[in-house]
Amino acid sequence: MGQVPKTQVPEAQTPDYLIIGNGRLARHILHYFSLLNIQAAHWYRGMESAIPEAKRYLVLISDNAIEEFIAENLRDKTGIKIHCSGALTTPLAVGAHPLTTFSLDLYTSEKYKEIFFILDENAPDFAELLPGLSNPHARLDPALKAKYHAHCVMAANYSCLLWQKLFRGFENEFRLPPEAAFPLLQQQTENILRDWKNALTGPLARGDTATISRNLDALEGDAYRNIYQTFVDSYGKETSC
Ligand SMILES: NC(=O)c1ccc[n+]([C@@H]2O[C@H](COP(=O)([O-])OP(=O)(O)OC[C@H]3O[C@@H](n4cnc5c(N)ncnc54)[C@H](OP(=O)(O)O)[C@@H]3O)[C@@H](O)[C@H]2O)c1
Repeated sequence: MGQVPKTQVPEAQTPDYLIIGNGRLARHILHYFSLLNIQAAHWYRGMESAIPEAKRYLVLISDNAIEEFIAENLRDKTGIKIHCSGALTTPLAVGAHPLTTFSLDLYTSEKYKEIFFILDENAPDFAELLPGLSNPHARLDPALKAKYHAHCVMAANYSCLLWQKLFRGFENEFRLPPEAAFPLLQQQTENILRDWKNALTGPLARGDTATISRNLDALEGDAYRNIYQTFVDSYGKETSC
């Protein structure tokens, strides 16, 4: 018996997924799904067609538009509504936060498969929520989500600002090639990944108050001086570690 040609699959079959949005995450998820041969429909605002039916709606649009969008456009749809915001908790959709950052470039299948998904505590089983994916996942009490996200933003986004400041300073003020600091960034990252508890070096870790004072004096008039000072004041005072 010959194989059933693909064209004979009923066209009206409801797809497992509808990806809503056309931003960074939507494009990455569509790419990930295509690498895994997961069929997904795609809809974003500006398309002329109506929002199609699906078993799951992945609402991958700006955080501040998610609730209104679901209330206005998906209220009568029976499929599971899922959002991927790390900060939002809403009764209108299940939260599944992919814990990484998505650049303009697409990633490899290996990279996508490593991404942890942080699910709302009361979310359905992962296999029911995101069938076809085998990503690592964990659950979080929605009451803790805002604080969890604040930690992610501080670590990932604010450290990025500090590195950008360093590279800008190298380029403009110190007349050094920014690439000269790449091995420092590489080694610091490797040390954190290998042994994050012992990865801190430098004057704070050594209790070298003379160097800290010299650093603060040198940063007089710099917008980031108060950030250095706040690190000095806050170091060792975290309540949760
Ligand atoms: N990027 C990341 O690294 C990352 C990581 C984890 C989670 N997330 C989450 O992923 C979701 C999407 O973020 P993103 O980074 O992909 O954002 P983005 O690149 O800024 O794209 C936002 C998308 O939302 C659409 N949109 C905005 N308001 C809308 C509305 N009222 N109705 C319909 N569509 C609307 C935009 O449409 P137009 O193009 O027409 O404006 C655009 O397609 C957010 O919940 C975010 O928290 C992002």
